[in-house]
Amino acid sequence: MNTVVGTAFDRKDGPAKLTGTASYMADFDAARMAYALLVQSTIAKGRIESIDTQRAEAAPGVVLVMTYANAPKLSEAAQKSNPPGERALSLLQTNEVRYNGEPIAVVVAESLEQARAAADLLAVHYVPETPLLAFDAALGSAYAPPQLTHGKTDSGWGDARSALGTAQVKVDNVYTTPMESHNPMEPHGTLAVWNGDALTVHDSTQGVSGARKALAKKLGIAPEKVRVLSPYIGGGFGCKGSAWSHVVLAAMAARQAARPVRLVLDRPQMFGPVGYRPPTRQHVALGADKDGKLLAIVHEVISPTSTFEDWMESSATVTRMLYACPNVATSHRLVKLNLGTPTFMRAPGLSTGSFALESALDELAVALNMDPVELRLRNYAETEPESGKPWSSKKLRDCYRDAADRFGWAKRNPQVGSMRDGNKLIGYGMATVTYPAHRQIANATLRVLADGSVHVRCGTQDIGTGTYTIIAQVAADALGIPAERIQVEIGDSALPEAPVSGGSMTAASVTPAVRDAALKARAELIARAIGDPASPFHGRAASDVTIQSGALSDAKDPQQRELIAVLLARNGGQPIETEAQAKAAEDEKFATHSFGAAFAEVAVDPALGEVRVRRIVARYSVGKLLNAKTGRSQFLGGIVWGLGMALTEETQVDPGSGRVVNANLAQYHVPVAADIPELDVAAVEEDDQNFNSLGARGIGEIGITGVPAAIANAVYHATGKRIRDLPITPEKILVAAGTVA
Ligand code: MOS
Repeated sequence: MNTVVGTAFDRKDGPAKLTGTASYMADFDAARMAYALLVQSTIAKGRIESIDTQRAEAAPGVVLVMTYANAPKLSEAAQKSNPPGERALSLLQTNEVRYNGEPIAVVVAESLEQARAAADLLAVHYVPETPLLAFDAALGSAYAPPQLTHGKTDSGWGDARSALGTAQVKVDNVYTTPMESHNPMEPHGTLAVWNGDALTVHDSTQGVSGARKALAKKLGIAPEKVRVLSPYIGGGFGCKGSAWSHVVLAAMAARQAARPVRLVLDRPQMFGPVGYRPPTRQHVALGADKDGKLLAIVHEVISPTSTFEDWMESSATVTRMLYACPNVATSHRLVKLNLGTPTFMRAPGLSTGSFALESALDELAVALNMDPVELRLRNYAETEPESGKPWSSKKLRDCYRDAADRFGWAKRNPQVGSMRDGNKLIGYGMATVTYPAHRQIANATLRVLADGSVHVRCGTQDIGTGTYTIIAQVAADALGIPAERIQVEIGDSALPEAPVSGGSMTAASVTPAVRDAALKARAELIARAIGDPASPFHGRAASDVTIQSGALSDAKDPQQRELIAVLLARNGGQPIETEAQAKAAEDEKFATHSFGAAFAEVAVDPALGEVRVRRIVARYSVGKLLNAKTGRSQFLGGIVWGLGMALTEETQVDPGSGRVVNANLAQYHVPVAADIPELDVAAVEEDDQNFNSLGARGIGEIGITGVPAAIANAVYHATGKRIRDLPITPEKILVAAGTVA
């Protein structure tokens, strides 16, 4: 009896956000709160000989200037990190500088303006050393990282290199993707309030419980003494999945100043000290027979990390699961540079890896003179290639078919440069889309209150995706109580623990726990009615009684009903309370992945090299969509990210100083509304009961994957120019060799 799950139910948090009553991190303050400013290094490598703080400390309104010279010393154990769950931070414990933009001081004052003015008075004396900044020059020093965020560093099967040697058709190229920076509308920020030895923090985070644990460990206090609140978050995309240096520094400064301290990063500070997507260099070689059957795939990835933490973009994982192929070899290598540590950025690994693999597939289709969709169908993986496990559910064929039909792929003239519109060259390109489906342990509690309304509590968070809304929908359907009457409390580490909102796993992890708690409450309500001599359902079988629209009712005769509030009133209005825990993985028997297909049309101006995306059609195999409206928004947002990755986004680091030179939204080009064409997205019919009780896999990240390759493949179709280096800027189009002028 399912009524709201799957519908386009309006956001629970919509009115609060629209009217400005939803409080984001920087909206919170506290009595006697002071303002902190993060000060960053201006060299990429070396040490600080001294920081002259006297003038800053004497400046109006200054409360504290915290540097390596006076910052509280943290214990050895606290400073050890266990990446990638815990990050190696810069907490003013040494005078060493490891990248340009590394935190070197915190200035606290009565106002933000006073803090900024005082920070300008700091005189930092450096002993600079020559930094390592050139990725290409460092390739020779590449090493195997001890671990990836998921999967093995190296893996494969068969003998890819010899199979490649004898394959009839081969493509063998290097693809590169640039450094990119997350740009959620809301920057990072932390308000730290100490009450004795207990710490309360408002933080813009994708994981209240992870932030709590990180703070407790770094500060050397018990996790029970830390509470992290994050009721509304203005976007995360991976950068807010870890507690970075400023979070701990805000708490240290608040303790030292003996006042609440609020530290908010400004836009330029979003580029460097809070992670980024590292550039990748990916060698992909494909070997196939004349019928397009893949015989060998080699996928070797090299990426930079910081000098102090191994973090690897796991781009080759896509090659381990996307196509059936008897011989596969994949590897990941790191080089150390004087940069901040990279991190998870929307569809880490899969976004960059799918650009390389799906571009290579397109090159193979050209070499075979075969339709790109047909090539993918000939290599369709019926089971997960690396493990041999069956998929929990996979409807990728439906995605290819439905997206191709909707797009009008059949109208594509395969001849390069053959389709035109006035002076514009038109190209059609496509790519496969994929992202893994994850679940972790999640807890929820639920109360049915005396008035028949419901209160759900869960220590998850809504990073803008719709978590408030889907929790209410799932509880509503399981209980038979309207979603409008379900109050959802999340974004607080004091609530029952739930995982980080990363890896697209919140919906899939949290909603089964909410559903179980709701089903328990439903059973309890029905049991009470049956056991209550004053109830019209007294003595009836449990199967005869149901709950609909907030009332107990006869399963066969809905007219016979009694409001939940009336039942509870006879029991003194005592609420019904339940709790539930959902497990990490329902069944290890299955491989769990989501899939899709993206088709793009581009128009290229051959004189200017300008690429405009005219439309994108995508279909997704993601299990059941819990909310048609918020789900659609996730797909659209992901595609917009893919478009930015394809055409505009690139964090540019000055090769001499290691400074990000376009650390602002004017020069780091995120697509704007005028760049976004008609996007036609939908999920194909699917219900993945092997994955969880809701039949739903995650959808937050899959949308970006495949899109850069679909656009690059369309550019090739339009121009004959194969751009293997993102972003596809006008100058690259103009200088590339190609068949069409
Ligand atoms: Mo996502 S990059 O795992 O927040």
